Amino acid sequence: MHNVQLIDHPLAKHSLTILRDKQTDTETFRRHTAIVSQIIIMEAGRNFKIKKRHIETPVAGAQGFEIYRSMVFVPVLRAGISMLVPARDFLPWTPVGFIGLERDEETAVAHEYYKKFPDHIETKLVLVLDPMLATGGSVSDTIFRLKEKGAKRIYIACIVAAPEGIKRINQEHPDVKIYTSAIDDHLNEKKYIVPGLGDFGDRYFGT
Ligand code: PRP
Ligand code: URA
Repeated sequence: MHNVQLIDHPLAKHSLTILRDKQTDTETFRRHTAIVSQIIIMEAGRNFKIKKRHIETPVAGAQGFEIYRSMVFVPVLRAGISMLVPARDFLPWTPVGFIGLERDEETAVAHEYYKKFPDHIETKLVLVLDPMLATGGSVSDTIFRLKEKGAKRIYIACIVAAPEGIKRINQEHPDVKIYTSAIDDHLNEKKYIVPGLGDFGDRYFGT
């Protein structure tokens, strides 16, 4: 496994444990998803470009900084929406592209039902948001679509990754970096992450 950064932060571990717990209710699940997502995005954001910006504080002139507006967020519908709100809180002006993919319950192969990306993504850093990287099929397909549209710099932010998914991304997209708050043990026969947290979309949306 390479090009993967495990975010080993005590606050992330705490919130992730609450997400994993099957007793956690929807409201609490949503709150801790936002916390973990922000920690992951903060880590991915270490490489965001900043420029100097002079400002006046109430006391004196000061040298400040601002982030270049050069990102695009791409949540993978539906579960990726859960990470969009925390990402948008940091960078509210960021354009958002959408791709809708749903895994077949028998084959675990994702089919695409929606896609809309902003223009000029070839000049942007694209942050793909999907909480679960299981087989890696959904995120890998998303990246192929983004590359068809010209994207050159792509990061993945996920909450739980399986080794199988990381290996697939490494093989199919060796140029793409993965940020995750957990690398779990394996996939079960239904291609769910073990120990994982179950079906993320169902738990987050209360379905
Ligand atoms: C889940 C999850 C990922 C995908 C991961 O979505 O949110 O997108 O599975 O699995 P993979 O790595 O094997 O492709 P799902 O298809 O259940 O749809 P949902 O987001 O609408 O719940
Ligand atoms: N999608 C989920 O929501 N959970 C898994 O464990 C695998 C795919």
